[in-house]
Amino acid sequence: GYGLNDAAKAAGKLWFGTAADIPGTNELEDFYYMQEFNNTHDFGEATPGNIMKFMFIEPEQGVFDFTGAQQFIDLAHATDKYVRCHNLIWKSELPTWVTDPAVPWTNETLSAVVYEHVYNVVTHFGDQCYSWDVVNEALADSPAGSYDNSSIFYDVIGPAYVVDAFQAATDAVKNNSLSVKLYYNDYNIEFPGAKSIAAQNIVSELKARNIQIDGVGLESHFIVGETPSQASQTTNMQAFTALGVDVAVTELDVRLPLPPTAADETQQVADYYSTVAACVAVKGCVGVTVWDFDDNYSWIPSTFAGQGYGDLFLQPGGSNTPLVKKAAYDGCLEAL
Ligand code: XIL
Repeated sequence: GYGLNDAAKAAGKLWFGTAADIPGTNELEDFYYMQEFNNTHDFGEATPGNIMKFMFIEPEQGVFDFTGAQQFIDLAHATDKYVRCHNLIWKSELPTWVTDPAVPWTNETLSAVVYEHVYNVVTHFGDQCYSWDVVNEALADSPAGSYDNSSIFYDVIGPAYVVDAFQAATDAVKNNSLSVKLYYNDYNIEFPGAKSIAAQNIVSELKARNIQIDGVGLESHFIVGETPSQASQTTNMQAFTALGVDVAVTELDVRLPLPPTAADETQQVADYYSTVAACVAVKGCVGVTVWDFDDNYSWIPSTFAGQGYGDLFLQPGGSNTPLVKKAAYDGCLEAL
C-alpha cells in the first residue's frame, strides 16, 4: 500500500530512501528484510552502507574491485531505485596501503592517489549513480568550523584535498559527459552554526573555482530529544540552497538509550517528523534517506554503546522474521 516513497514523491521530492549494508552482512539472506528493501512504496533510493568505500573499491593501489558495488547497484536498480553512491574520499575505511605509517606520502603522491581514485571510480560507475558523496566528513566538531585534522588527507595535503577530490570528479563528469551529481556530505551541519557555515564555505570555494558541486548531504544522525527543530533545520537547508546547491537528508536515524521508554518513543516520532517536514518545506531538498530501516541491522548499537532503537522498523523475532513498523514510521509518513 501507500508508503514513504509514494508520499515523498507526492510531496515533490525525488525519493524516500534507505542505506543498506549489502553485500557484506546477512541482510541479503534475510527474506523479510529484503522484502521491505524491495518495497517500492517505501523506498525509491538506496545508499550502500559500506561497499563503495575506498578500502573495498581500491584494496591495493591501482587495483579496483567493483564487484560488490555493482551487485548493490543492480539490486537497487532492479526495483527502480536511485543510488546515492557513497563515498569517495573519507578518513575512515581506508585500505592499509593508504594508512600504513611506513609509507612516506607527500603532498604530490597522496594528491595523485586522491585524483586517481576519484577519477577512476566516478568514470567507472558513470550515470548508474544519481550522485556521489565525493568528500565525506572533512570538518571537525571542535573547534567547530575547522577541518578535521585526524584525516590522513588533511595531514598530508591540507584542505586542498577537498578541492582536489572535487576537481577529479568534475573532470570525470566532463570527460565522460555524465550527469551524476557531486555532493559534499557531513554531520552536525544540519543546524545553523560554525560547522554548517564551514560547509557552506566549501560550496562557495568550489563554485568560485568553477568546480562542480551540486549538493550537500546532511547526515542527520540524531539523538532523541536533541534533534534540531524543524525551523532550525529548514533555515539551515535554505542557507545551502541559497548558494545554488541541492540538499538531501542522507543518513537519518534517531538513537536513544536502551531500553526505550514510552516518552522516548513519543519523542522519536517528533524528531523524525521535524526532519522529514523540514525537507518537505525546502524546495531544494531532494529527498530523505534513513541509515538503514531495521534496528536489527543498525550501525548504532555497535558504535554508540548502550544506544539503539534508532530506525523505522523492528524485527522482534530477530533475523529472518517479520518486520514491525514503529511509530516513527508513521511520524515520517505524516510529515510527507
Ligand atoms: C558507517 C557504517 O554504517 C558502518 O557499518 C561502518 O562500520 C562505519 O561507517 N557517517 C557516514 C557513514 O558517512 O559512511 C557511516 O557508516 C556512518 C557515519
